[in-house]
Amino acid sequence: MLSRQISQQLIEEETPFYLYDMGLLRQTLESLTSEANKYGYKVHYAIKANFDPRILEEIHKFGLGIDCASGNELRTAIEAGFAPKTIVYAGVGKRDKELRYAIEQDILSINCESIQELGIIDELAREQGRVTDVCLRINPDIDPRTHHCIDTGQADSKFGIPYEEVKEHIDWIKGLKNVRIIGLHLHIGSQIRELHVFESMCRKVNSIYADMVKRGFDLRMVDCGGGLGINYDVPENEPIPNFASLFSIVHNHLDVGDAEVHFEFGRSIVAQCGELITRVLFNKTTATGRKLLIVDGSMTELIRPALYGSYHNIENVTAQDEENTAKYTIVGTACESTDVFDQNVSLPVTKRGDLLAIKSAGAYGMSMASRYNLHDLPRAVYRT
Ligand SMILES: Cc1ncc(COP(=O)(O)O)c(C=O)c1O
Repeated sequence: MLSRQISQQLIEEETPFYLYDMGLLRQTLESLTSEANKYGYKVHYAIKANFDPRILEEIHKFGLGIDCASGNELRTAIEAGFAPKTIVYAGVGKRDKELRYAIEQDILSINCESIQELGIIDELAREQGRVTDVCLRINPDIDPRTHHCIDTGQADSKFGIPYEEVKEHIDWIKGLKNVRIIGLHLHIGSQIRELHVFESMCRKVNSIYADMVKRGFDLRMVDCGGGLGINYDVPENEPIPNFASLFSIVHNHLDVGDAEVHFEFGRSIVAQCGELITRVLFNKTTATGRKLLIVDGSMTELIRPALYGSYHNIENVTAQDEENTAKYTIVGTACESTDVFDQNVSLPVTKRGDLLAIKSAGAYGMSMASRYNLHDLPRAVYRT
């Protein structure tokens, strides 16, 4: 990865920081857009994955829209130059002021997650004398075969509306004067590596779509969400995710007539472009014999390992003597015992001052950073 190639340039930088490989980001966007164009698919970037302004600028140049999950994400996207008619907005708990703003901006679609929310959108749109475009986010009850903390499409999940409930309210929905139901939205989970689950999703969508059309709805879009997984284990083997496979599955299994097909990718666009670079502060051995590397980064810069036990491959980018290795537990500075980046990591013998790269950290890294322990938010360093 990039940090290894330019380790000498990084040594003087103040750590910790995110290193972004803008060249890899562009290659990823080239691959994504050329594969999507083969089928006329529309792609939105899930801004929650990383809202760094330089990253947004690059994504904007490739003509993607935005998927947002809050009023502030929506505002950030608009300020970054994304046209409101390329923005979709999902979220189980949209505040009234956030909905008012989305309605006022006349975005492509508010992706509605409950029947009660639909009534509120109608009411708020009426206040503005508008008819607002809405997709219904359906909970399809599909196991996406991913980490349980990031699945979003199973029956007991807080996300989306069961189609049975939509059917129970069909007449009421049809009677709403200030919302226009323009499509369906699904997002079944994140870091999905078993792509066959998208076949099941397509089959569910086909039957729901057909039923709604039969009931008189004029649906012009189906938003298939995001979720495409990346290779965290050996990122070098797959720096650009396999967009082609996912699109070909959807092309072969989705049957929604002339409706536009949309996607909302976050992780697969930005994860491999980012590394968290952190410096070893101390070596320490516990009374039980565990060798610790205490680094100057922590869960406040990258919370995923502490939050979900997520794995990130870690490399020593300054000491590269592969003959002489040891096994380390890599811990951060925060006052929490869960602030552990990984255990039993085999690295060249590592000492104070060495730089470590925590790889595949471009998604849900910086955007989840916090100021716990009054840490500064991490800086970004870009290489083209
Ligand atoms: C509604 C919605 N769309 C898209 C995404 C992006 O998912 P991913 O980063 O897995 O592509 C998310 C992520 O949580 C989401 O909640």
